Amino acid sequence: MRVPLIAANWKMHKTIPEARTCLVRLLELLPPEGGVEVAVFPSFTALAEARRLLTGTAIALGAQNVYPEPTGAYTGEVSVSQLVDLGVHYVLCGHSERRHVFGEDDAFVGRKVQAATAHELAPILCVGETLDERRAGGAWAVVERQLERGVAGLGDNSRGLVIAYEPVWAIGTGVAAQPADAHAMASQIRSWLRDRFGAKGDEIRVQYGGSVKPDNAREFLRLPDVDGALVGGASLDPDAFAAIAHAVLR
Ligand code: PGA
Repeated sequence: MRVPLIAANWKMHKTIPEARTCLVRLLELLPPEGGVEVAVFPSFTALAEARRLLTGTAIALGAQNVYPEPTGAYTGEVSVSQLVDLGVHYVLCGHSERRHVFGEDDAFVGRKVQAATAHELAPILCVGETLDERRAGGAWAVVERQLERGVAGLGDNSRGLVIAYEPVWAIGTGVAAQPADAHAMASQIRSWLRDRFGAKGDEIRVQYGGSVKPDNAREFLRLPDVDGALVGGASLDPDAFAAIAHAVLR
């Protein structure tokens, strides 16, 4: 029922020519096949070029960030309608680097999710605990709070919403979560979504993210409650990223 979503978060990498080279290769490697959806999240600077290359292809376009106000004196920020204007379909909200490096709190993340949803931009709400929180037995409490506050402004409208479970200690470290732990958390998120959104909760995809690579992707993507992956480091190499997307179909 849920088509897995494999997403490439390029973070602050790739100039426009580098993005172009990567996307041209990805398009060679990813013929449109059913059973998996692929999305790429370049820097703002490469979005227009990415749109040019991806229009009419099976790869969707995402942005790494958004500001929740519609317009105004917010120097350096980018609005939902400006992203929609560029052909962007998805936006990351509450990535751990935004939370921990830039100090974004749950309420602010919730405003982004609400603003995106209101304008048909699909938010990927990222949630996940730190290592200390996990060791103290508080992983679910953290994730539950991030979920509650992240969707607080949505009412019963979950259209387009995607959740990415990304334990902070697994991001960019090369140390992925144990598949059993990722599965336990994804299942808990799934039942929370059912309680919160009713039957619609079953339509919301729950991705795993954190050091997903071609050689471990299958361990996560075969889990029944994991509907795809949010990939950072390995997504910079189109061959590695395509291998992860193909792992869904194996
Ligand atoms: P990683 O990043 O794959 O490099 O761990 C994941 C992410 O930040 O979404």
